[in-house]
Amino acid sequence: MDGSAPAPEVGVTEAAVPTPGAPEETADRQQPEAGHVFRALAALRSACVLYPEGHPAIEAQVDDVHRYAMALVANRPLARLDIIRGILNCDGEALPRESQVHARVLAEFAALGIDSVHVGAGVSKDEIRTVGQFLAHDHRGPGTGGAVVEVLAERGVRNFNLGRILPVNHRVKERLPEAPETLHDEGYQASAELAHDVFDRFDQGFAPDVQSIHDLLEMLVGRVARSNVALSQVMALKRYENRSYLHSVNVALLATRLGERLGLERPELMQLAEAALLHDVGKTRVPIEILTKAGPPTEREWRMIHRHPLIGAEILSELHGLGPLTPVVALEHHLDFTGGGYPDLGPDRRPQAISQIVSVVDVYESVTGARTYREPATPDRACVILARMAGDKLNPALVKAFVSIVTFFPIGTIVRTTRGELGVVVGTHDDDALHPRIAVIDPAGPDARPTSVLDLRERDDGGAFLRDVAETLPEDRVRINVASVLRRFETSDAPD
Ligand SMILES: [Fe+2]
Ligand SMILES: [Fe+2]
Repeated sequence: MDGSAPAPEVGVTEAAVPTPGAPEETADRQQPEAGHVFRALAALRSACVLYPEGHPAIEAQVDDVHRYAMALVANRPLARLDIIRGILNCDGEALPRESQVHARVLAEFAALGIDSVHVGAGVSKDEIRTVGQFLAHDHRGPGTGGAVVEVLAERGVRNFNLGRILPVNHRVKERLPEAPETLHDEGYQASAELAHDVFDRFDQGFAPDVQSIHDLLEMLVGRVARSNVALSQVMALKRYENRSYLHSVNVALLATRLGERLGLERPELMQLAEAALLHDVGKTRVPIEILTKAGPPTEREWRMIHRHPLIGAEILSELHGLGPLTPVVALEHHLDFTGGGYPDLGPDRRPQAISQIVSVVDVYESVTGARTYREPATPDRACVILARMAGDKLNPALVKAFVSIVTFFPIGTIVRTTRGELGVVVGTHDDDALHPRIAVIDPAGPDARPTSVLDLRERDDGGAFLRDVAETLPEDRVRINVASVLRRFETSDAPD
């Protein structure tokens, strides 16, 4: 990250929690400057409150902070000072004696909402002076964590960051696994592995072999996109942190299904799948810590994330053998249907049709995926989100076509009917998304096997539906192996 001291308010600072009774001499003997930095910073803040800018009293304190900071980074590029439960840590090492000596000053900073200071090796007196003025006049106390680094960066401070460590229990939840435990469809599994290799190459700054991308697309378009087992897993709510490669495979798979629904021919489908697979390649140039941080990105981080369409288009236009629209889709996939969005490509620019397809699928895939700071949306909730964006951000005709594939109860959804039957959705109807076909499961039966198939479109003599979906249930709450139920329905041994 351009050699500057990283923002400490990320909330996942990995400083060690001090062990009570840990041997004191070792750590403290090494880092007396760590406490001095805080003490001198507190004195600088007071001087900035009391005296006008440029006053010698301020300059003396700037010199002090600078001297201690330079001593800290004398033999390392970056020093991380964190106050954890009142104990000062330097690069994750607890300093109990320093913490005692400077207890009052450390408490003062904690009360200001600052319990983390990161010092970069190139720190200048100007930067320290700016930090002092900020602390004296502009810092608005705890609760403004995200803004501090922003403001300091705007004022040219790159090597002296202040921030707040979020205690572990403030995180929305623990880190999620990076991928699902099992990918039920063999072709989907193989595609995910191939995509992992392709994105690894991009990650490392190399161009992947275009032939391997095409092999992957052959498998996706030819086979995986037709598998309901794969589709159900892609469309379902995902309880893992969806990394680029899997997100990309999922978007490619769903875009192919949507393309088929729209009547695209094979060459067009291949172009669509390729563009969908590579739409987010620019994210391989965004630091992984930003993409996976346990909290919403700061404004500066958003700016970095917002550059990924441009970067992606650049990477892809240099790769020979790809379809002509692949870089275009990377560039346009965050442009709104009616203009707007990002990047700014001029007021009259409208995304190409193929980019509009990828945008619809991308939104769905993103919101049904978990992030460490938010729960994934259920498929029906994701459809509502798409419907709200239709007309303004997304092409309404494409949203309609897509929702008819996904439906409110996609294949693989576990449902309970208004008559109390438990079942897995095994078929949907284009003209009635609310009344799918379900395989009824007897939860007490052997292996929760399907016992019959019900079509929820059935009506009584008066024309009323016999049953509706009463609720959907997450797979981990009921003992049903959805993949094996769906496999039975892909082969011929389904009860019917
Ligand atoms: Fe994107
Ligand atoms: Fe995306």
